Amino acid sequence: MSELSGYRWPDERGRFGPYGGRFVPETLMPALDELEEAYLQAYNDHAFKAELARLFHTYVGRPTPITHARRLSRHLGGAQIYLKREDLAHSGAHKINNALGQALLVERMGKKRIVAETGAGQHGVATATAAALLGIECVVYMGTVDMGRQAPNVFRMKLLGTAVRGVDAGSKTLKDAINEAIRDWVTNVQSTHYLLGSALGPHPYPTIVRDFQSVIGREARGQMLDEASGGPGRLPDAIVACVGGGSNALGIFHPFLADEQVRLIGVEAGGRGIESGEHAARFADPETARLGVLHGTRSYVMQDADGQIALTHSISAGLDYASVGPEHALLRDLGRSEYTYATDDAALEGFRLLSELEGIIPALESAHAIAHVLELAPQMGRDQVILVNLSGRGDKDLDTAMRALGARPGRLSTENEVNEQ
Ligand SMILES: Cc1ncc(COP(=O)(O)O)c(C=O)c1O
Repeated sequence: MSELSGYRWPDERGRFGPYGGRFVPETLMPALDELEEAYLQAYNDHAFKAELARLFHTYVGRPTPITHARRLSRHLGGAQIYLKREDLAHSGAHKINNALGQALLVERMGKKRIVAETGAGQHGVATATAAALLGIECVVYMGTVDMGRQAPNVFRMKLLGTAVRGVDAGSKTLKDAINEAIRDWVTNVQSTHYLLGSALGPHPYPTIVRDFQSVIGREARGQMLDEASGGPGRLPDAIVACVGGGSNALGIFHPFLADEQVRLIGVEAGGRGIESGEHAARFADPETARLGVLHGTRSYVMQDADGQIALTHSISAGLDYASVGPEHALLRDLGRSEYTYATDDAALEGFRLLSELEGIIPALESAHAIAHVLELAPQMGRDQVILVNLSGRGDKDLDTAMRALGARPGRLSTENEVNEQ
């Protein structure tokens, strides 16, 4: 048996080797203990699991399918590319899996109010959706920069009955939104659950989020083995997923951990390039990303020489975060997963190509995974297989993409439209 078939992280203190843990003010400890207890009970409770499975099926539309990207594979002339279609999940991304799971926990704990943070807005929409479904009051914090670039998602949340509170501090993005959500939680901890959106934060959050997202990998593993489900009838040679906090990547990686012949590749946001310093590639830049504690957990954190959290940049709001989920750091140390990055420009190329060749407009986050596939697939044989977690759809990103791609000379340019008619 390999080391990974007995993989049992985190340990009883919530650590993933040297990473993870629980670095929070004392006032939050009882709430985290209560959450851990509620989760452990739910995890072993058939009724909870049956209710979640029912909602996954009847509300989210699970199982999401696997799609063979035939034209993209042919275009790249290498490995066969398959897409796990989380973009087809209700509300548009994988985030709904975790939001629904945690919202059911809120019901179990008898709490009446949810606070959440959101970057791309996708987790905020998923949380607002779950809160509306279960009739729970919901407040979402969002950096004002992100509110600007994700305006349709802000409107969606409001429509779903959630209060959206803009955060105008720091970089006005996800990190600052998390600070505010935690502040609200500390103040209202008796009545309120903090519904964290990625595999981050103090124990038990990284485990809870990973477990709720692992439905992606469990389904995908079965579908890949089963030709009738659209798969190639074999396990993939590589799985590629984008990594913000890391929840969609862990969700698809986890059920494949013991299949050591399957490469697990996480793609971070390379922004304007590593040398520019304007990126969120925590593993690719040892200069700025060092071990540290952010939002209650120890992992790689982008920081300046004084240990202040560094400003990050990505064209995709969902990957624009200064730290990375602690379990990714451990899997990397164990040599089980690898990490690379895609720049904004490469992601835009992935975005354009998948749209044009497959009729699927991906989220800009997911387009980072596609961007890596554009490099990887041609290096592999035609009998080999890549599985990509298409974590979300691109509706929310049309405005950003229109500005970035529409400003370039060529077919997508918006500049000379009037003259051309
Ligand atoms: C579509 C999509 N993919 C990926 C991410 C990144 O998050 P994670 O790394 O937790 O999957 C986000 C975050 O908002 C997202 O909206």
